[in-house]
Amino acid sequence: MPIIAIVGNKGGAGKTTLSVNLAAGISNQSSIAVIDADPQGSSLQWRAIAGDNVHFPVYAPTFSLKQQAQSYSGKNDVVLIDCPPSVKSPQSVSVLEFADIAIIPVQPSPMDLWATVHIEKAIAEARETNPELKALLVINQLESRTTLSKLVREVLNEIALPVADTAIRRRAIYRNSALEGKSVFGIGKRGADAVEEINSLIQEVV
Ligand SMILES: Nc1ncnc2c1ncn2[C@@H]1O[C@H](COP(=O)(O)OP(=O)(O)O)[C@@H](O)[C@H]1O
Ligand SMILES: [Mg+2]
Repeated sequence: MPIIAIVGNKGGAGKTTLSVNLAAGISNQSSIAVIDADPQGSSLQWRAIAGDNVHFPVYAPTFSLKQQAQSYSGKNDVVLIDCPPSVKSPQSVSVLEFADIAIIPVQPSPMDLWATVHIEKAIAEARETNPELKALLVINQLESRTTLSKLVREVLNEIALPVADTAIRRRAIYRNSALEGKSVFGIGKRGADAVEEINSLIQEVV
């Protein structure tokens, strides 16, 4: 069953936002366990506030992320790991060696997109021990479609990683739902647009 790593090289790219909302969407269909491998512990904090609002666990990392993930993988359809904001962190390096797919949220700004060159390198290195590793860039906090298509096309020439067809737009509801200890799936109509794009991304990934 797939082990999904949410990785990146920048704080604030949206790893935790994607982690908890993807997990919430996946949990509607399948069993999922989340590991918060970022020492900042934001997914764990969110889970503590969420209480009964959501129906999947978020675990703190144990000594061996690989053993931990493989153990959850045996009991769940999906395991998702929220990683620290550096692909060179020991946690990210370890996770990329056994994950099935790496999802990399990036903001649609040239600086952020160019910074993914380092991620491309990290993915290539990980593939030496984990040749089946898939990787997918996800544009997060998109504000206009024109900007996206222009930027992505320019940057695609420099980066060898595929970009998800689904882009996640900048929406206040991602922040507000987290404040309430919820995902965008748990806030009724206010979350409808966000739910649609998260579900669309899940379709692409799982
Ligand atoms: N698509 C989005 N729309 C609006 N706000 C977002 C979106 N994605 C992330 N954010 C906000 O941006 C900030 C950083 O996101 P976060 O998921 O914590 O990033 P990371 O885990 O990569 O550090 C948070 O305040 C989060 O609520
Ligand atoms: Mg985070």
